[in-house]
Amino acid sequence: MKAVAFDRYGSAEELQYQELSKPIARSNELLVRVRASSINPVDWKIRQGHLQLLTGFNFPKIVGSDISGVVVEVGREVTKFQPGDEVYTFLNPIAGGACAEYAVVPESSAAIKPKNITHAEAAGVPIAGLTALQALRDLGEIQAEKKVLINGASGGVGIFAVQVAKAMNAEVTGVCSAKNRDFVKGLGANLVLDYAEVDFTQQPEKYDIILDAVGTKTFAECEKVLQPEGVYISTLPSFDNLAPMLTSWFLSGKKAKLIVANANPSDLGILRELIESDKVEPIVDRTYSLAEVAAAHVYSETGRAVGKIAIAIDS
Ligand SMILES: NC(=O)c1ccc[n+]([C@@H]2O[C@H](COP(=O)([O-])OP(=O)(O)OC[C@H]3O[C@@H](n4cnc5c(N)ncnc54)[C@H](OP(=O)(O)O)[C@@H]3O)[C@@H](O)[C@H]2O)c1
Repeated sequence: MKAVAFDRYGSAEELQYQELSKPIARSNELLVRVRASSINPVDWKIRQGHLQLLTGFNFPKIVGSDISGVVVEVGREVTKFQPGDEVYTFLNPIAGGACAEYAVVPESSAAIKPKNITHAEAAGVPIAGLTALQALRDLGEIQAEKKVLINGASGGVGIFAVQVAKAMNAEVTGVCSAKNRDFVKGLGANLVLDYAEVDFTQQPEKYDIILDAVGTKTFAECEKVLQPEGVYISTLPSFDNLAPMLTSWFLSGKKAKLIVANANPSDLGILRELIESDKVEPIVDRTYSLAEVAAAHVYSETGRAVGKIAIAIDS
């Protein structure tokens, strides 16, 4: 099968479009003909070698996590899926494997893809959409009327966070650059702040939830603009937030939390319902072919993507 993999850590030039053997599904796995993937920053952080202690030195490594595709074979213990089902999920980013014509997926993490969107759109949902949903619902305990601020509202996680928070009837402030102001407003944000013009941590407004999707603000900076029981959630581990994250486990008051997305099929089902009922729209900024994954990584590394970057994989 065709796949995009690297043989050593480094720049996007290490990514090779090559012929590799097709994976074999174990008894509890699905073999999926991948129709699309999407880029997440973790993909190029792994390729650059930032997570070598976890990813190791077993090469070649096929890049990518998010997938949307069609089941072609099922292991003998699989009961919930059959060949022909259209599924979406994300593979463990440490193992990768999504930027390929075929991938194996544990039955326990697969879910039926939303019917009203393309595979390229669906492949943008799993990591970014689950991060937004699980952060706001599980860590933030979001409720209607709560005041929520999304820092990085125009990025992959941000577009889902704004729309999921609005679907839950929260009052949403999105933070992005001036060029993305109308875009974020169009996602449903009640208020949009340009980070070059306004530092939200210096304003009088107080929030129940601050989701820092881009990791540019620490808990210490956000603390004064949190409500007394407010929650700061980051998508990135950082030394600055370590102490408040640890003490948040046992101290009451304002809390700092780290979200780590979980490929939970029932949450993928919730996202499917939100998408099929037009409450959430996956926005694809650019679409690349499988042979162009290196260019897609380079674009993601600019940090300027608006929504998701899709990889379309021809049948
Ligand atoms: N923990 C987890 O499970 C998890 C899951 C997903 C992602 N993540 C991490 O979360 C981060 C964001 O992921 P992503 O997929 O959303 O990234 P992304 O799509 O690459 O984010 C790009 C967006 O970031 C915005 N941005 C850049 N600088 C900003 C700033 N100073 N203030 C506000 N917005 C800014 C850009 O908007 P402008 O061009 O308008 O500046 C752009 O729209 C990554 O570091 C990723 O590794 C973690």
